[in-house]
Amino acid sequence: MAYNLLKGKKGIIFGALDEKSIAWKTAQRCVAEGAEIVLTNAPIALRMGEINKLAAECNAPVIPADVTSMDDLNNLFTKTKEHFGGGVDFILHSIGMSLNVRKGIHYTEANYDHMHKTMDISAMSLHRLLQVAMKQDAINEWGSVVALTYIAAQRVFPDYNEMADAKALLESITRSFGYQYGIKKHVRVNTISQSPTRTTAGSGVKGFDGFINYAEKMSPLGNATSDQCADYTVSLFSDLTKMVTMQNLFHDGGFSFTGVTQPVIEQMEK
Ligand SMILES: NC(=O)c1ccc[n+]([C@@H]2O[C@H](COP(=O)([O-])OP(=O)(O)OC[C@H]3O[C@@H](n4cnc5c(N)ncnc54)[C@H](O)[C@@H]3O)[C@@H](O)[C@H]2O)c1
Repeated sequence: MAYNLLKGKKGIIFGALDEKSIAWKTAQRCVAEGAEIVLTNAPIALRMGEINKLAAECNAPVIPADVTSMDDLNNLFTKTKEHFGGGVDFILHSIGMSLNVRKGIHYTEANYDHMHKTMDISAMSLHRLLQVAMKQDAINEWGSVVALTYIAAQRVFPDYNEMADAKALLESITRSFGYQYGIKKHVRVNTISQSPTRTTAGSGVKGFDGFINYAEKMSPLGNATSDQCADYTVSLFSDLTKMVTMQNLFHDGGFSFTGVTQPVIEQMEK
């Protein structure tokens, strides 16, 4: 069901790779709620071609941008402003990548070239895109920026590896830049800390099946799906949440505040 929550709003969605991507679902939800969007992803991801399907469905242009390139980001915001004839009201940062995780390198053995790249793609990119947006004055008054994160920023999940450190940095940038953009233009910046979700990035984490099943058992409401994450994100892009900023918002069925559950106790007693 749609409520027209984003009627007249314009936004940029980073990170829709395929139908499983959280950004894919969010793009569809934003359009269903009345928004117009621009889609972007790294050139290499675009070559896989799936995004064209989403672009046609959402009537959205696709503008390539590697988030580690300031030139790409400048071009993205310039072209987006041309397309809309002005600034945007919302941005979704749905981006994560770690070569150390991909290559199965243990946390204590991290390759630092890889780690550098992980921090840049998965965390500093939020700073980069906010800096470019601010310089180009590309986000409208009371705009809303959401980045996706995971609870490994607060608690140790060993197989999440260096992505935990990247998410901690991402959440810190959210607060620090959220302060600056709030003062300057009432732009709000928040992270949503999502349940484990079966996507390309998610499934790259070692032992993901055990991980997702454990979270399901440890959450009074069960794991939040990517569709539900899209719903929550739409609410943060809407005018109903105007005074929420610099927050890390758990969207995890209660997992983050649960000590133990009956199903987990029963499992331990077997
Ligand atoms: N899946 C989960 O379990 C889960 C849980 C919590 C948070 N998250 C976060 O949600 C976000 C989206 O991930 P997802 O699960 O939908 O997986 P996904 O693999 O569909 O999305 C990750 C995206 O990052 C993009 N990306 C990678 N390098 C890039 C670069 N250099 N420039 C631009 N884009 C680049 C990829 O092309 C891809 O579209 C990530 O931040 C992830 O950490 C995922």
